[in-house]
Amino acid sequence: MSEKKKRETFSSGFAVFFATLGSAVGLGNIWKVPYLTGAKGGGAFLLIYVLCVALVGIPIMVCEFYIGRKSRKNAVGAFEELKAAKGWKSIGFIGVVSAFLIMFFYSCVAGWVYSYVFKAIKGDFVGVTSATSSAKFASTLVGPMPPLIWQFIVLIVVSIILIAGVKNGIERITKTLMPVLFILILICDITALTLPGASQGLKFLFHVDFSQINGSVILTALGLSFFKLSLGMGIMITYGSYFTQNNNMIATSVRVALSDSLVSILAGIAIFPAVFSFGMKPSEGAGLLFKTIPLVFSKMPFGNILLVAFFLLTAIAATTAMISNVQVPVAYFTEEKGMGKKTAVLLTTGIMMSIGILATLSADSSSVLGNIHILGQKGFFESFDYLSSNILLPVGGLLTAIFIGYFVKREDFKLELSNQGTLNNASIINVLYVFIKFITPILLIIVFLNSIGIIKL
Ligand code: PHE
Repeated sequence: MSEKKKRETFSSGFAVFFATLGSAVGLGNIWKVPYLTGAKGGGAFLLIYVLCVALVGIPIMVCEFYIGRKSRKNAVGAFEELKAAKGWKSIGFIGVVSAFLIMFFYSCVAGWVYSYVFKAIKGDFVGVTSATSSAKFASTLVGPMPPLIWQFIVLIVVSIILIAGVKNGIERITKTLMPVLFILILICDITALTLPGASQGLKFLFHVDFSQINGSVILTALGLSFFKLSLGMGIMITYGSYFTQNNNMIATSVRVALSDSLVSILAGIAIFPAVFSFGMKPSEGAGLLFKTIPLVFSKMPFGNILLVAFFLLTAIAATTAMISNVQVPVAYFTEEKGMGKKTAVLLTTGIMMSIGILATLSADSSSVLGNIHILGQKGFFESFDYLSSNILLPVGGLLTAIFIGYFVKREDFKLELSNQGTLNNASIINVLYVFIKFITPILLIIVFLNSIGIIKL
């Protein structure tokens, strides 16, 4: 049997969908989309974000799935297998660098979430008010040791799961837990909508004020769409490499993008009514989720138990997203550098911990390193986020689209996406192809030229 045939595949379309969603759904939905929407102008930002998901995210996801299934290799080996010139491997390399940058700050925020599980169990949020909730968040950030210890715990958990080889088991558990998280978010939505002044929150989230749109809003929304769907770093190439031959990859991409965006929007509906009802500002920044959600739960029966469950499930969703992320450098070290798995995992998480310290100690202006700026006005935390989401992931995505649009035969692309002609989707593929070849790369280039000041949007 050839190596291609021997490679395992997901057992069903359902398994494909959940595994992919396990990487996509994470802190992005519950923490980052709401906080950026709050900071960048509400409905106008959300609209641009949704457009980026549809016009850029979905086409890039299809490209990555194509490369993965066609080559049956991960991002590092895929381009070689497709007989692409050596330079294309740099997409895999961009993925490795992005994975590190993302984890430097992601593990910090995941640490806050883990710590909130314990704070909620201890009953710290019983009878919480907007002032005490903000104070609790501020005390979570006060370092240097507690937030660093939580970040460390997060990275140890991720390492143990990868080294013990129980990733598949974890994926099975997430499959059953994700719908529970979804239901908890819905319960929050219902409670939030009954708060006095809730309609102001909804207005903020859904009313589009076009005057809020500018180049920085577009770049942030674009970067967020890559971060959210785990695109531009080869993760979806790896998932695609496990797809069955009869998986409808376009439908899978659309389903993943829709479900993921739905979770983010529902999280927004839980948070923004509370922001206005409790007299907070939508532009609270990275603490928005942590300051508002305990208040929402305090208004429901069994609120504290449900709050524990909410943070526990968020911690699990964050952990599965991190596992998919950490595997990118681990695959690079084991497959390209011939390292053993355990060494590769420890090296990867060790680097993430060492440099991640800088993110944790600069998360807030009151933090120890809070006043050191590296990229313009940005501290370490924000710079890691900016460099990965707004620069490297979109560059990875742009190269992927150019690869498919200009270096893969159109016929090959059509055959693979129609499952050798068995799917009746020729016209959808044609539209998608126009996006991949022209629209998506042009949009990406315009946003870049604008962000480096060459053109002005
Ligand atoms: N998509 C994840 C989230 O929204 C974050 C992530 C980005 C995970 C890139 C893996 C790779 O939380």
